[in-house]
Amino acid sequence: MIFAANFKTNHTRNSTKRYLDTLSEKIAAKKSEEKVYIFPPATALGHYQGDFTLGVQNAYPAQNGAFTGEIGLEQLEEFAIRTILIGHSERRELLGESQEKVAEKFAFFKAEGFEIIYCIGEPLEVRQAGDEAVSAYLLAQFEGIDTAYEKLIVAYEPIWAIGTGRSATTEEIASTHQTLRKTVSSPLLYGGSANPDNIQEIAAIENVDGVLVGSASLDAEKFASMIFGAKC
Ligand code: PGA
Repeated sequence: MIFAANFKTNHTRNSTKRYLDTLSEKIAAKKSEEKVYIFPPATALGHYQGDFTLGVQNAYPAQNGAFTGEIGLEQLEEFAIRTILIGHSERRELLGESQEKVAEKFAFFKAEGFEIIYCIGEPLEVRQAGDEAVSAYLLAQFEGIDTAYEKLIVAYEPIWAIGTGRSATTEEIASTHQTLRKTVSSPLLYGGSANPDNIQEIAAIENVDGVLVGSASLDAEKFASMIFGAKC
C-alpha cells in the first residue's frame, strides 16, 4: 500500500523538518510493503533521512532556463529528487495546465527516469452525468501519456472530493478503479478527503493500491495513524 502526502501550499522549511522527524519516529515500525511519499512545497525540498521518498509537487520540463517562477531538473538534482506529481487537478484548473502541457511534462520526466504520480479526476457535473461520462473524461486525461511506463503510479482524485471532507463512496471508487485497471497496470491510488476515519474502508477496496492525501496528511501523527490504520 502506498501512502502519499501532498502538502500543497502548506508547511514551511522548518515545519517540514519537524514533521519528517516526527513521522520517521512514528513509522519506524511500519511494514516494509507500506511505501510513504512526501510532497512538501518546493522551498522545503532538502536532504532528509527516513523511510520515505521525497517528491516534488511540480516542476518545469527543462533542465534550467528562462521560466520565471518555476523550478527545473537542475534544482531537483540538488536534492536528489526523483519523484514528481503531474496533472493534479489544482494545477489543471487553477494554473490552467492543459492536457498538452501535462503530457509534455510527463514525457520529459519519463525520459529522465522519474517516478511519476499522475493525477486524473472528474468534476462534479461529469460524475453526475454517470459512469460512462466519468470513464470518457478520465480516459481523455491519458491522452499523450505512456500508461505502460514502468515507473508510473496513477492517482484517481475526483475533484468534488478534494478538500471537501466528502470522499467518494466505496462503490464509486471501486467501479472507477475497476475501469482504470483495464487501461493501466500501474499502482492505482485514490485521493479526495481520505482521512484516518475512512482509510480502512478505502484500503480494503479492490484495485486500490494506496492513497494520495492532502488535508489529513498535514499533521504527522494523523498521517502516521492512517498508515497504521489501513490494516491492509
Ligand atoms: P484532500 O486532497 O485529501 O485534502 O482531499 C487530496 C489531494 O488533492 O491530493
